Amino acid sequence: MTLTTAPTPSISDALETRITVRDFLDTPVPDDTLQAILSSAMRSPSGGNLQPWKVHVLRGEALARFTEVSVARTLAGETEEPTFRAYPSPLWEPHRSWRYKLGEDMYALLGIPRDDKAARVRWFAENARFFGAPVGMIITGDKRLEMPQHMDIGIILQSIMLLAREHGLHTAPQGWWRNWTKAAHEQLDIDDGHHVLVGLALGYANPDAPVNSLRADRANVTEMVKIYE
Ligand SMILES: Cc1cc2nc3c(=O)[nH]c(=O)nc-3n(C[C@H](O)[C@H](O)[C@H](O)COP(=O)(O)O)c2cc1C
Repeated sequence: MTLTTAPTPSISDALETRITVRDFLDTPVPDDTLQAILSSAMRSPSGGNLQPWKVHVLRGEALARFTEVSVARTLAGETEEPTFRAYPSPLWEPHRSWRYKLGEDMYALLGIPRDDKAARVRWFAENARFFGAPVGMIITGDKRLEMPQHMDIGIILQSIMLLAREHGLHTAPQGWWRNWTKAAHEQLDIDDGHHVLVGLALGYANPDAPVNSLRADRANVTEMVKIYE
């Protein structure tokens, strides 16, 4: 499916054209664009106005140093105890099938067979380099936060992703960074009491990358919404 790279004029357009981009151009994101996105995102609501997020933005040399370490560790097969498990285990239907289908579709586009472990590790290393994006974000939160504050983190994440579309940019939300909270503490100025909740890649999408043609399915409104009247 064709990738829409043009800036979007409305929230509906932003929602329709936002996808998780997993291959970025190295075109830099202008300073004022980044500032505009971040300052608008700060208007995101949060329960009790706690604003429980801390956004660590990496660019230029800092991004290169950070990703050099994470790529090397990923390729070496190193692991850390993740902040949180990515999904409940075992996962139940219909979520299990939806997750399976996404993986199948993505690895097919990447040309990586299910049993090619080495190629999969190389692909994980793409996560470790923010898929080549010129801006990487690590969002942390205090370990004492309750579940509702984690929902607030999701809201600011979505704000950044939709604002990015308004500027002709794309994003990749990355739970993958929850696996690297120790590494993030080593390299960034993160409070001791914080841990990594999610990461985000931000930049201009590579329109020629096959993986960026992935369109993840969605359930119908009737499956997910019950209207009472
Ligand atoms: C909180 C969150 C974490 C995610 N983590 C990853 C990740 O670590 N790596 C990845 O490739 N995609 C990740 N994704 C992307 C999802 O797979 C994607 O949003 C979903 O399949 C729907 O596809 P779409 O974003 O292209 O519409 C994440 C998405 C969200 C919302």
